[in-house]
Amino acid sequence: MTDNQILTFFKQHKFTYTVGIIFMILSSYVQALFPKILGKAIDLLSVKTINKSMVFIDIFYIALISIGSFVFTFVWRNLVIGNARKLECDLREKLFLHFQKMSPEFYSERKTGDLIAYAINDISAVRMTFGPATALAINGIVLCIVSIYSMCNAIDLRLTLITLLPIPFIVIFTTKIGKIIKIRFRRVQENFSNISDKVQENIYGIRVIKAYVQESSEIENFETLNKQISDSNLSMVRASSLLTPVIEVSFSISFVMNLIIGGNMVLQRKISLGDFVAFNSYLTMIMNPIVSIGRVINVYQRGMASLGRLNDIFKVKPQIKDALSGSSIDLHGNIEFKDFDFIYPAAKTKSLNNINLKLPKGHTLGIIGKTGSGKTTLATSLFKLYNLESGKVFIDGKDINTIPINSLRTSFAIVPQDNFLFSDTIKNNISFFKDIYSQNDLEEASKNSLIYESILGFKDGFECLLGERGVNLSGGQKQRVSIARALIKNPSVLILDDSLSAVDTITEKQVLHNLKKLRMGKTNIIIAHRISAVAHADEIIVLDKGSICERGTHTQLIKERGLYYEIYNEQCADGKS
Ligand SMILES: Nc1ncnc2c1ncn2[C@@H]1O[C@H](COP(=O)(O)OP(=O)(O)OP(=O)(O)O)[C@@H](O)[C@H]1O
Ligand SMILES: [Mg+2]
Repeated sequence: MTDNQILTFFKQHKFTYTVGIIFMILSSYVQALFPKILGKAIDLLSVKTINKSMVFIDIFYIALISIGSFVFTFVWRNLVIGNARKLECDLREKLFLHFQKMSPEFYSERKTGDLIAYAINDISAVRMTFGPATALAINGIVLCIVSIYSMCNAIDLRLTLITLLPIPFIVIFTTKIGKIIKIRFRRVQENFSNISDKVQENIYGIRVIKAYVQESSEIENFETLNKQISDSNLSMVRASSLLTPVIEVSFSISFVMNLIIGGNMVLQRKISLGDFVAFNSYLTMIMNPIVSIGRVINVYQRGMASLGRLNDIFKVKPQIKDALSGSSIDLHGNIEFKDFDFIYPAAKTKSLNNINLKLPKGHTLGIIGKTGSGKTTLATSLFKLYNLESGKVFIDGKDINTIPINSLRTSFAIVPQDNFLFSDTIKNNISFFKDIYSQNDLEEASKNSLIYESILGFKDGFECLLGERGVNLSGGQKQRVSIARALIKNPSVLILDDSLSAVDTITEKQVLHNLKKLRMGKTNIIIAHRISAVAHADEIIVLDKGSICERGTHTQLIKERGLYYEIYNEQCADGKS
C-alpha cells in the first residue's frame, strides 16, 4: 500500500525528479573533473619554463567547476530534498485519513504512542531514505564511476586496482552491519512508542495518579521504559559506530599503497607528479561516498524498517462495511430493531439479545437499566461503529446496511457518556470547527442546554479556551457543552447517553423541558439511570443483561411493579432521605 503510494508520488513528480537527478549527476560529474585539472596545473608548474597563460586557463577551469558545482547542487537539493519533504507531508496526510476511517476496534487494539510513532518517526525515516540518502547514493555512484574511470584510464590501471583492493571488503562489511542496524532500529521504534504512550497516559491521567499517590511507581515504570529505549539506542549505536572507523582504516591502507607504489612510479617517471597528486585527490574524492555508504545503508535500512511498519498499518482495512450507494440520504428518524442481537468483536457473550423495538419519528424513547445492561451498545449501534447483521436494524424502513454511514452520522447526533471536549474555544467545541452556525445559533444551543450563563461568566465568553491550555469545566458543565454541540446540529435523531448524570435535578428538569419544546416532532433517545430523566418519554424500555425486560410508559411501568418500579422506589426513598 505504502509502496504504491510512493510510486504514485514519484509519477506525479516525475518532472522535478528527472530534472533534479540530471542536475545531481551533472554536479557530481563536474566535481570529479577537479583532480584532473589540478594534476595538469601541477605538471605545468613543475617544468622549468612556466607557461603562465596555461596556468591561468586551469585556474579559470577550477573557478568554473566551483560555480557549476554550486549551481547544480543548489538546483538538485531544492528539487530532490524538497520532493522528499512533500512526500513526507503527503504520507502523513494519507496516514491521518487512514486513521480517521478506522473503527473503535482498531484503536482499542493499538497503543496511542505507537500510532503517534507511525505519524512522526516512521514517516520521517521514509523521507530520509527517499531524500538525503538517495541523493548521497546517486552522488556517490557518479563520483566513483567518473573518478575510477579517470584513475584507470588517465593514470594507471594497475595502481588503481591495487589501491582500490579494500573497497569490496568495505561493501560486504557495510551490508552485513546494515542488516543488524535494521533489526535494532525496529526495536528502537517499538521502545519509542512504548515511552510516548506512557508519557501521554501520565499527562492525561495526572489527576488520578496524584489522587492515588502513584507518582513514585509511575516514575519507576517510566525509568524502566527510558532505560529500555536508551539500551536499544546504544545497541544500535554500537553497530553503526563500527562502520566509519572500519572504512577509514581500510582507506588508509589505500593511501599508504598509493604513497609506496605511486611514489615509486613518479621516481621511475612512469607517471608525472601531477598524475600522482590527481590520483591522491581521486582517492580522497571516492573516500567520501564510500564512507557515506555506511550512512546511506543505515538510513536506508531504517527507512525500509519504517516502510514495513507503515505498510502493515496501511494494510489494515476499515472494518466497517459502508453501503454501496454513495449518494447521501436525508433520514427522518423512524427506527426499528427486529430480533437484533449484538456481540462485540472482542467479547465472548452477547451484549444485546433479541431486541424488538419500533420508534416512530417524533417519539421519545427512554432507556433505563443497570450498569452494563447494554444501553450504550443499543444506542451506538445506530451509528454503525461496528458491522451489523443485515435485516435487523431499519431506519425509515431501509436496512441500516444500505444507508451510507455518512448519511447516518450526519442525520443523527449523540451526546456520548464519556463526553470529550477539545483543547480549543467553547465556540469551536460547540460548533465543531464549522463556520455554518451563526452567533445566534450558538447562543440558542447553549441556552437550551443551560450552559449559556456559565459561558458568559468565563473571561472570554464563547472564545474561552478549554482543557490543557485554558479553563477546566466541571463534570456537569462539560456535559452541557456536549449537549449544546448535539443540539446545534438539529439532528433527526438525538441520543443523550446518560448526559444529565452530573447535573442537579433542577437543571435536569429545565434541560428536559427545553428539549421537549425544541425537539417537538423529532426522534429522541434518552438513556439514564435516574427515572426523572425518562419519565416523560413516549415509551420506556428497561434493559437487563442485554434484553428488554419491561416496556411501556412511566404510568404503565409503575403499575407493572417490576424492575422499573423497584428502581423508582429506591430513587424516591433516596430523594426523601
Ligand atoms: N468495546 C467493547 N468490547 C467488548 N465488550 C464491550 C465493549 N463495550 C461494552 N462492552 C460490554 O457490553 C456490555 C454492555 O455495555 P454497555 O456499555 O452497553 O452498558 P451500559 O448499559 O451502557 O452500562 P452503563 O450504565 O455503565 O453505561 C457490557 O457487558 C460491557 O462489558
Ligand atoms: Mg453506557
